[in-house]
Amino acid sequence: MRNHQVTDTLKRPLRDLRISVIDRCNFRCTYCMPAEIFGDDYPFMPESELLSFDEMETLARTFTKLGVEKIRITGGEPLLRKGMPELIERLSSLDGIHDIALTTNGVFLVKQAQALKKAGLDRVNVSLDAVDERIFQQMNGRNMKPRAVLNGIDAALEAGLGVKVNMVVQRGVNDTDILPMARYFKNKGVTLRFIEYMDVGQTNGWNFSEVVTKKEIYEQLTELSPLVPVEEAYFGEVANRYRYEGTETEIGFISSVSDTFCSSCTRARISADGKLYTCLFAEHGHDLRALLRHNKAGGETLEDRLTSIWQQRRDRYSEERTEETVRNRKKIEMSYIGG
Ligand code: GTP
Ligand code: 5AD
Ligand code: SF4
Ligand code: SF4
Repeated sequence: MRNHQVTDTLKRPLRDLRISVIDRCNFRCTYCMPAEIFGDDYPFMPESELLSFDEMETLARTFTKLGVEKIRITGGEPLLRKGMPELIERLSSLDGIHDIALTTNGVFLVKQAQALKKAGLDRVNVSLDAVDERIFQQMNGRNMKPRAVLNGIDAALEAGLGVKVNMVVQRGVNDTDILPMARYFKNKGVTLRFIEYMDVGQTNGWNFSEVVTKKEIYEQLTELSPLVPVEEAYFGEVANRYRYEGTETEIGFISSVSDTFCSSCTRARISADGKLYTCLFAEHGHDLRALLRHNKAGGETLEDRLTSIWQQRRDRYSEERTEETVRNRKKIEMSYIGG
């Protein structure tokens, strides 16, 4: 039974919890973990720093009391963490959780999709930035061919998981692959979402000029088919959705640069080492692991602490983005917080 529905200073409820389970990845996407920076000597978290499954379960259970209904598992690459089906099973059995999803680069789905589905996973969002071999190999920094990801997508579909594909569009890098990607996934009947490249973290050297906006992408897509808008499925949905006329196949736009959506942002994020962030672009997190491991709440319960953090939340970074914030904010990395 839910205790209370907490809201923040901008009256936004808490609905979604994104839990990063590991900060490592088998890819080195140039916009997320550039290989020059995330090299062999990069100080990834030792295992002792990662939240245990027990700790994640305790946190997730407490979050459900504040209104969380949806959990998304992220990384780095979450399927590099051992025993993921067990974690999914525990989280999907929590009272009040209606939707459990995972964001992945897809490569390990070939081996793990069946077990994840059996454990209670509802759906996966698979990142794929190009179907063109040369472009994709260059972008993922590991010479991985699109086929490895496409096989993972097929495995997820066969296992009965819901599947959406995420394409981050970067001008001059993969914008020539917008139509080939759209054609491929239209034919397959799989939802493709185009993501405006964002200034997350400090390492990707982001620049406004590299952003291909929703409007530009939309115009390209009309070459393929007229698009029909689809109603928002729930309050605060991140993607604007459309379907190709005459079909049920959808596409989406995640336009956090040209058309921001902070006013309905219901998401809390936990890093793999147990820090709570109230925005993807936050500079500081709240150390929940210390609270869990050393009982440092000083009499305050975990639930009280989370309530008070959410009630004080005022983040709306995408609405406030300026040249100055892009350059000077000490933002956390995408691979650390999982998007
Ligand atoms: P669904 O529940 O399937 O709609 O998931 P989602 O789109 O929220 O999650 P996913 O991990 O697939 O993220 C897709 C893209 O949206 C990534 O680039 C995320 O970084 C971005 N994104 C998700 N939530 C937010 C948010 O609160 N703010 C911003 N700026 N971007 C977000
Ligand atoms: N801008 C937009 N999306 C990004 N992602 C990673 N880095 C960025 C960025 N700078 C995407 C990944 C994945 C999701 C978690 O976030 O491609 O689909
Ligand atoms: Fe790994 Fe995803 Fe980052 Fe690429 S975008 S390096 S697949 S975490
Ligand atoms: Fe939410 Fe921050 Fe993204 Fe705005 S920028 S939608 S507040 S996570």
